[in-house]
Amino acid sequence: MRWIEVDTYQEMSLKAADCFEQQLLQKPDSVLGLATGGSPIGLYEELVKRYKQRVFSFSQVKTFNLDEYVGVSPADVTSYHSYMEEHLFSQVDIEKNDIHIPNGLAPNLQEECVRYEQLILQSGGIDLQLLGIGVNGHIGFNEPGTSFQSKTHVVTLADDTRAANSIYFPSKQEVPEYAISMGIETIMQAKEIILLAFGEQKMRAIERLKQEGISEDFPASRLKEHPNVTIIYGR
Ligand code: GLP
Repeated sequence: MRWIEVDTYQEMSLKAADCFEQQLLQKPDSVLGLATGGSPIGLYEELVKRYKQRVFSFSQVKTFNLDEYVGVSPADVTSYHSYMEEHLFSQVDIEKNDIHIPNGLAPNLQEECVRYEQLILQSGGIDLQLLGIGVNGHIGFNEPGTSFQSKTHVVTLADDTRAANSIYFPSKQEVPEYAISMGIETIMQAKEIILLAFGEQKMRAIERLKQEGISEDFPASRLKEHPNVTIIYGR
């Protein structure tokens, strides 16, 4: 695990953008694993900026998002589909067919999970996976207690996750109870992983990640067994 401490959110975003730039220059048809939330917004802004400066293109890139809420329409502003469209996809030259996000409205959610997992495999696997971290150590929506063997699955959101994410909804009651998320094993299969964490609230999770052993009670700890992980963090 490589640890990079930064002083500002902007610095974290630029460092992460450098990793994506390197990846896209080395392999223009990269498969990228993407995340939502507050942590990657600055990174996406920077990627759009560099794309507009023609540093790289997304025309051959495929993307797989980590997760999506169950029961929220892609058109809804609170969906991760909308988030990705707003912060990245609408501003770069990615092909619509190359964008993949779990379908939280699928009539059969279990089948949707299997389909999503297979699609990742068929694409050749994820080259570079972006992650945030929940205050309870969740990655994607893999809450404490999730099996390290998990593949893409339907998850019940923890209370503190619903509270943390309620800032994006009119009220906590409206935060969905379920989501589809890549599993821990799905994430571990990525060739390279970058995790972003910024702010006082995240530092307890980062300290735990540094100090504690590997346990399903703290999902991010599994990353310690991955050969190529970079944590970019600051308070
Ligand atoms: C959310 C998302 C995660 C994200 C994390 C941190 O619940 N499902 O994928 O990484 O929590 O979010 P933020 O960056 O807003 O703190």
